[in-house]
Amino acid sequence: MEPEFWLQRWEAGQTGFHLDEVNRHLEQHWPQLGLHAPAGVFVPLCGKSLDLLWLRGQGHAVLGVELSPKAVEAFFAENGLQPAVLPRPPFVDWHLDGLNILQGDFFDLEPDDTAECWGLWDRASLIALPPGMRARYAAHLTRLMPHGCRGLLVTLEYPQAQMDGPPFSVEGDEVERLFGGDWAITPLAEHDVLEEQPRFRERGLEWLTERIWRMERR
Ligand SMILES: C[S@@+](CC[C@H](N)C(=O)[O-])C[C@H]1O[C@@H](n2cnc3c(N)ncnc32)[C@H](O)[C@@H]1O
Repeated sequence: MEPEFWLQRWEAGQTGFHLDEVNRHLEQHWPQLGLHAPAGVFVPLCGKSLDLLWLRGQGHAVLGVELSPKAVEAFFAENGLQPAVLPRPPFVDWHLDGLNILQGDFFDLEPDDTAECWGLWDRASLIALPPGMRARYAAHLTRLMPHGCRGLLVTLEYPQAQMDGPPFSVEGDEVERLFGGDWAITPLAEHDVLEEQPRFRERGLEWLTERIWRMERR
């Protein structure tokens, strides 16, 4: 997915991936990571997710990166927050206490930007990308994140022939291939979620599984 695809989706209001509540897997599984505040947490491809606020509410210093200015603007406006906005080329840095969103391209981040991030939350980020970009994403994420950091990854699996992504189906062996060398990855839970996703059922899907992974950077 090229940047233009996402910018247009935000412009057109086609943001069916956005949840109007905090992700339940984050609330359920985050505590078992044992990551103590104020450790930083990185949220790649963050959209306007309410998960950012939940993580900040746990006392973490949260860093998101998001391509779309419209998404970042909406995040702060919809939550009644007034951030300071500063140029930080090639990003625009929107920040307030304990929360930074760098508006720009994830692939422009450098390890210095994420050096204090000891936590990672990836929901609808890896799976937003087509296969070739996923390999690039995983390699860049691995380069960015400090050794010893840990986090959660949420993936979806479904018969890819029945529906075009995004979101894409990313099976366990791909997660292993992408991250297994540099991260210890452990599946924590899986859920059959087709009933909760009528928009995917209407597109012809016969089954849909959501899987939550614990990740720890070696
Ligand atoms: C499927 S959405 C998920 C957003 C968020 N993680 C959530 O759970 O609501 C993917 C987001 O990634 C953003 N995005 C896509 N490519 C990006 C990139 N290269 N750098 C930063 N953000 C990107 C899109 O604009 C979009 O908001």
